[in-house]
Amino acid sequence: MHKKLLSRKAACNSHGQDSSYFLGWQAYEKNPYDRITNPTGIIQMGLAENQLSFDLIESWLKSHPDPAGFIRDGASIFRELALFQDYHGLPAFKKALANYMGYLRGNKVRFEPSNLVLTAGATSANETLMFCLAEPGEAFLLPTPYYPGFDRDLKWRTGVEIVPIHCSSSNGFQITKAALEQAYQQAEKCKLRVKGVLTTNPSNPLGTTTTRRELDTLINFVVAKDIHLISDEIYSGTTFDSPRFISVAEAMIGRDDVSHRVHIVYSLSKDLGLPGFRVGAIYSGNDYVVAAATKMSSFGLISSHTQYLLSVLLSDKDFTRKYTEENKKRLKERHKLLAEGLREAGVSCLKSNAGLYCWVDMRHLLKSKTFEGEMELWKKIVFEVGLNISPGSSCHCVEPGWFRVCFANMSVDTLNVAMQRLKTFIDTGLSSHDSGRRVRWPAREKANWLLRLSSSDRKCER
Ligand SMILES: Cc1ncc(COP(=O)(O)O)c(C=O)c1O
Repeated sequence: MHKKLLSRKAACNSHGQDSSYFLGWQAYEKNPYDRITNPTGIIQMGLAENQLSFDLIESWLKSHPDPAGFIRDGASIFRELALFQDYHGLPAFKKALANYMGYLRGNKVRFEPSNLVLTAGATSANETLMFCLAEPGEAFLLPTPYYPGFDRDLKWRTGVEIVPIHCSSSNGFQITKAALEQAYQQAEKCKLRVKGVLTTNPSNPLGTTTTRRELDTLINFVVAKDIHLISDEIYSGTTFDSPRFISVAEAMIGRDDVSHRVHIVYSLSKDLGLPGFRVGAIYSGNDYVVAAATKMSSFGLISSHTQYLLSVLLSDKDFTRKYTEENKKRLKERHKLLAEGLREAGVSCLKSNAGLYCWVDMRHLLKSKTFEGEMELWKKIVFEVGLNISPGSSCHCVEPGWFRVCFANMSVDTLNVAMQRLKTFIDTGLSSHDSGRRVRWPAREKANWLLRLSSSDRKCER
């Protein structure tokens, strides 16, 4: 009723909150699984959170109580941290973060703190880059499947459009020159000016690292089209198996023609498992972008206390090395557990070596090989089996039947329960399954989702 008093931005529903990605979270929040208090509840497997190595950080905090307690060299720095913060960030933190980013890339590349812009997470970094690089109505090309949050982060407040680069299972969803060209032409057909390509490396939702060949293809493409390349490397420290992670920064070495058009996004939300701390960054070789993004960072700064604490933690190189190695080991074990559990249930996934999730192939379980079929299966898995996983359509995958399943935000016991539920569901037959957990999908949410499927979700695929 009072909506008409709002701005168009506040009143419109282009935020993307009604995607099945978020609807699944809502379903989980209404009925969360707990082994003791709610054993038939929904298990959250749609959240790429890393909870595997908290104990390592907690034990560091215990043995280093001073930085979290506002103490430096035995004296309080409470007042210093509580006072006005300059938007350039704490030099000690930028230096420590730049060194850590270099360490995660095998020290093959050096990051200059002066080229870093601090942001409140990668969400803010990606949006800030959109504001710096594109006008409303201009477009970025994104390889599919992509992180569902990008519809909100890149488009909502900026007015920028996303045009999908369609990748397919035939080559493991790798990015090809032909797919890039096709997306570019599609944008031109829609009268959208393309300002850049944005990729995630390692990929969310694929869990794969971008190959050197793909990186060269991407760099050559952006040079040829005179556009930008954003590489969201938020999962760079999660690569737990070969092939090793190659950053776009490494692929650029020896090329003078690209540093002003390549921008890296990073955050401590995944590698250190600290999404609540809101620590992100843009690294750019373009001085204009660094200057503009720094000014814009006023709208999403990282608290001085957090910067100070993490500057001490990240400067402890012995700790970061041990943490990173152990975290990767744990991710690898967990990934194996999920892949084996799925295999026992007769389900395979894309071969992957990074990330906090698997890209799971359930095409053989679809009643019809359509997105409606995918939705039908997804609803059963969420509301009857009790697993919140993310359907490929929410990641704009063009092939129905793929799902992203997260493995690092729960205990081994919970993962085992999840795998047992899935196996029972598949073994007892899809149609006859009814676990007694049946939850009705609220009619309005269902109608919204189906509407999105048929219209806006497909908008950029014109
Ligand atoms: C590829 C990618 N970029 C950005 C984000 C947002 O991260 P942050 O918590 O640092 O804002 C996520 C979170 O899942 C992500 O997967």
